[in-house]
Order: sequence, then C-alpha cells, then structure tokens
Amino acid sequence: MVLSVSSVKKHFGEVTILDGVSLSLAAGEAVALTGESGSGKSTLLHMIAGLEPIDSGKILIGSKDLAQLTESERAHLRRDNNGTNFQTFNLLPSLNIAPNPSCQARLTGKDVDINALANSLGLQDHLSKYPEQLSGGQQQRVAIGRAVASAPKLILADEPTGNLDETTSDAVFDLLLATARDRNAALLIVTHSARLATRADRRLHLSRGQLAA
Ligand SMILES: Nc1ncnc2c1ncn2[C@@H]1O[C@H](COP(=O)(O)OP(=O)(O)OP(=O)(O)O)[C@@H](O)[C@H]1O
Ligand SMILES: [Mg+2]
Repeated sequence: MVLSVSSVKKHFGEVTILDGVSLSLAAGEAVALTGESGSGKSTLLHMIAGLEPIDSGKILIGSKDLAQLTESERAHLRRDNNGTNFQTFNLLPSLNIAPNPSCQARLTGKDVDINALANSLGLQDHLSKYPEQLSGGQQQRVAIGRAVASAPKLILADEPTGNLDETTSDAVFDLLLATARDRNAALLIVTHSARLATRADRRLHLSRGQLAA
C-alpha cells in the first residue's frame, strides 16, 4: 500500500474531529473524499502530509510510520514522495509558471521535461506568464503540474476544483485523475461535488469523525 491510515483519532480542544479513521490506498488508485464543510477533510490530508500530529492510531506512507520520523524526515518524505495540492494553490507568485513545477522537481533531484509536462496540461502557451496572469483553471493546472513534477507516489489534492466553473472543474478533475493514473500514483482527492466524486475508483464520505464507503 502507498498509504495506510489506521484508527486515527484527532481532537481540537473539546471537539473530536476524527474518531477512528482508517483507509488505505494502492498505487494507481484514485479515491474521492467527500464530507460536509468542517467535517475534517483538510485536517486528515494535513495529517497524511505529516503537517499535523495525530492523537492516536497510525499513518504509514509506504512502510514509514509518520509518527516515528523526525520533523526533518517528514519534510523529506513530503518533498520526495507526496505531491500536494491544497485548497490554496500556493504557486510561487514571483516566478513565471515554468519554474513552478521545475523548482519542485529540482528540489527532489529529479529531471522533468517542462515542455512535455506543459503540453500534457495544455499550458504550452503560458509558460512565460506569472500566476496572476493566469485564470483560476490555468493556475490549478500549474498546481497539478507542480504536484506531479517530482513523480510522487502519493498525490493529495484538497478541493482542486473548488473555485472553478463546472466545465473547467470537470476538465481539471479528469486531468488530475489521468495524470495520477499515467504515473501509477495513488490519489486522494477532496471534493464537494458528488458528481465529480463518482469519477474516482472509490468514494469515501467523512461524517461525525468516521469514514464510510
Ligand atoms: N488548528 C486548528 N485548531 C482548532 N480547530 C481546528 C484547527 N484546524 C481545523 N480546526 C477545526 O476542525 C474542523 C475541521 O476542519 P477542516 O478544515 O478539516 O474541515 P474540512 O472538512 O476541510 O472543511 P471544508 O470543506 O470547509 O474545507 C473545523 O471545525 C475546524 O474549525
Ligand atoms: Mg477543507
């Protein structure tokens, strides 16, 4: 398994956010995660990314137990293994878009063919633009490029289509699925859209701290 989450619990103050959550993801598998606003989807992704500690349970990335790693080992794992695409795009505003994916790849010492990647994402005509000169859908495609540039085994995508119109959402969602599948990466994708969720291989719903298929 690329990712195994078992019996994870998390509370903030008095409030239990996750109450025994388990899931696993195999290579090449795409799982959609739905749930009401505030149900804990982003919290779960942050914990899988090693950015937020868990109260109890276990998260394995490949064979590595996140809780057994040091802060710096978790950062390396995130850099080398995970492609993250969070609710905000986090594009580097001072760089034009070509370096946004290649920076990520260079950090991990992997080579990336920026032109081929841009072509596959339909960004070939925009490589010299800055993020602020791109539409939301184009920015999201750059973020997908950055997430996959370092050939991650696991891609975490938090509402990648949140601010996009229906047609663009569909295109971006399908592109992310296809990009992950092409690379045999496991993909965990948060979406508010039940319609989009049906395109994944499996659907999980988070409610009252628990996951249901
Ligand atoms: N650092 C924190 N400290 C305290 N409470 C937090 C913290 N982070 C998140 N929460 C709370 O945990 C709950 C879950 O938040 P989370 O962001 O995971 O929800 P979500 O399912 O991603 O919602 P949305 O669909 O709106 O993005 C919310 O009630 C939120 O206020
Ligand atoms: Mg969220």
